[in-house]
Amino acid sequence: MYNKGKIIIGLVIFVVFFTSPFLYGLVKTSPPPEPELSPKAKEAKVCVENTEFMKESHMQLLNNWRDEAVRNGKRLYVATDGKEYVVSLQNTCLGCHNNASKFCDQCHNYAGVTPYCWECHIEPKEKE
Ligand code: HEC
Ligand code: HEC
Ligand code: HEC
Repeated sequence: MYNKGKIIIGLVIFVVFFTSPFLYGLVKTSPPPEPELSPKAKEAKVCVENTEFMKESHMQLLNNWRDEAVRNGKRLYVATDGKEYVVSLQNTCLGCHNNASKFCDQCHNYAGVTPYCWECHIEPKEKE
């Protein structure tokens, strides 16, 4: 006699395992959200660095900013285009992107990341 219980469990695992990429795909194929630019950002037109770089590397940029500010006391960032920015997550990034919930969060929710920065940094209150 075969062990029916084990076969059924095996089948269930097999089916779940082999359909999961498909199920995952269904969830993930909704189009990515368009991060909504605040009126202030729209007016500025450009970010600290070019959009491609920001899209891919804003986390590293923020890490560098933190290390430079906290370890080296360097609080002025000279961008590739020569413009100077005060190194501040709250005042610079979120001063211009002053709609974090529609901009940062929307994208992070989609990507499934939850930056832990707001445990210490103050997320500025948004004004419409
Ligand atoms: C455990 C608390 C804590 C957490 C969590 C934290 N920070 Fe900070 N961060 C600080 C402190 C304290 C300073 C120093 C403030 C100063 O000297 O102006 C700082 C400074 C910075 C600075 C430079 C100065 C400024 O005002 O922005 C940046 C940039 C920064 N953090 C980015 C981040 C980012 C990005 C995250 C999330 C990935 C993060 N931090 C998470 C505590 C924290
Ligand atoms: C002076 C205003 C300003 C500041 C300061 C600024 N940004 Fe931006 N940011 C913009 C603008 C404008 C765009 C859109 C550029 C475009 O459409 O090509 C943008 C784009 C981005 C993008 C890409 C969005 C996308 O559509 O993919 C990210 C991510 C981003 N910014 C994060 C940051 C972070 C993190 C900081 C701080 C280190 C920061 N920004 C500082 C104005 C700013
Ligand atoms: C275009 C989409 C997009 C926008 C807009 C965006 N992010 Fe991100 N962010 C991401 C993605 C995707 C990751 C995860 C990247 C990874 O893990 O390699 C990320 C990661 C981060 C991290 C590192 C978190 C961690 O735990 O590693 C920080 C900090 C961060 N973003 C801050 C911001 C801030 C602040 C803004 C708004 C000013 C912003 N991001 C806007 C897509 C975005």
